[in-house]
Amino acid sequence: MSSFLIPFKVMFFLILVLLHSSLVFAFSSSIAALTRGKEAETLLKWKASLDNNTQTLLSSLWVGDSHCSWVGIICDKAESITNLSLPDYGLKGTLHSLNFLFFPNLMRLDLRNNSLYGPIPSHIGNLSKLTFLDLQYNNFSGNIPSEICLLKGLELISLASNEISGSIPLEIGRLSSVSEIYFFDNYLRGSIPASVGNLTYLSVLHLYQNMFCGSIPKEYDRISSKNMISSEIMFFLILVLLHFSSVFASSSSIAALTRGKEAETLLKWKASLDNNTQTLLSSLWVGDFHCSWVGITCDKAESITNLAFQILG
Ligand SMILES: *[C@@H]1O[C@H](CO)[C@@H](O)[C@H](O)[C@H]1NC(C)=O
Ligand SMILES: *[C@@H]1O[C@H](CO)[C@@H](O)[C@H](O)[C@H]1NC(C)=O
Ligand SMILES: *[C@@H]1O[C@H](CO)[C@@H](O)[C@H](O)[C@H]1NC(C)=O
Ligand SMILES: *[C@@H]1O[C@H](CO)[C@@H](O)[C@H](O)[C@H]1NC(C)=O
Ligand SMILES: *[C@@H]1O[C@H](CO)[C@@H](O)[C@H](O)[C@H]1NC(C)=O
Ligand SMILES: *[C@@H]1O[C@H](CO)[C@@H](O)[C@H](O)[C@H]1NC(C)=O
Repeated sequence: MSSFLIPFKVMFFLILVLLHSSLVFAFSSSIAALTRGKEAETLLKWKASLDNNTQTLLSSLWVGDSHCSWVGIICDKAESITNLSLPDYGLKGTLHSLNFLFFPNLMRLDLRNNSLYGPIPSHIGNLSKLTFLDLQYNNFSGNIPSEICLLKGLELISLASNEISGSIPLEIGRLSSVSEIYFFDNYLRGSIPASVGNLTYLSVLHLYQNMFCGSIPKEYDRISSKNMISSEIMFFLILVLLHFSSVFASSSSIAALTRGKEAETLLKWKASLDNNTQTLLSSLWVGDFHCSWVGITCDKAESITNLAFQILG
């Protein structure tokens, strides 16, 4: 009796395991198939919403049954899209039909240098795995949706050279992984949110050619009347504030080291600006000693101090 029961129990156990795992397998693979289906469907829906020439172009690029082999699309092993990169194709249309909810694994969205227009949809906040967002050189308009600040993994964001208006969302400080922000050449207004100061990894912040305002130190009064310069100066002040706020907290033992870095950082920044601004700053920053340059005040240890306080005031 017992010699029969044990194999039966074993059988029962095996059947259970088999059932369970095949159920799990069926379940997860059908979920994957579902998302896969949705991803391709969403891409085709988006294509159908675009301008006729763009549809023709995409029909020639997106050939074959598996969307993972289409031009500009990269998938993970589970055949879910991770990269959507279609820069420089002259694509014309809106993002309205590109429902980001169906791209749960998208890490890279690169639609740089096309002719896309209309608003940047707020559902972009659904792209929870996004690390790279480049929409530069298009005709996007409207505000920067605050939902973009939900993208905690974002390392680079470029919305530069569009027709974006409104102000930078106050929540920008939530982009805790961001190291590069390019918002230049738009119609952005208002002041630069203080929360930018919380972006620990930020190394590039290009805001020039916008319409920002803000308190400008007295030294720059004559400059700020010139076209487009004030936002550059504003950016400069923010940059200085960001870079040197850590200096205030640092110990005196590395003071000499940071001193060298301060002048170096200023010059590096200057070299990155447009030619007129470089010429201007070269006329203001004369001499070997950066503490004697216009707009710069140092402490006894020759570390920049006052500029930061002037900006805040
Ligand atoms: C696009 O093509 C469709 C059908 O070929 C046509 O009916 C429509 O007018 C075209 N639209 C534009 C904007 O050319
Ligand atoms: C934009 O793409 C076009 C091709 O569609 C190319 O000729 C042009 O150089 C690109 N512009 C930039 C700024 O990358
Ligand atoms: C896909 O996107 C990731 C994140 O931006 C990037 O590191 C990777 O190089 C991209 N892969 C390809 C083949 O472009
Ligand atoms: C944006 O739209 C303007 C006209 O509204 C057009 O002249 C310009 O070429 C467009 N730029 C792009 C990148 O599509
Ligand atoms: C997707 O985005 C919409 C619009 O921002 C939002 O209402 C919705 O909660 C988001 N869904 C998910 C799953 O994140
Ligand atoms: C910066 O972060 C700190 C801590 O998370 C927070 O208390 C503070 O309000 C933030 N500052 C701004 C300007 O967002």
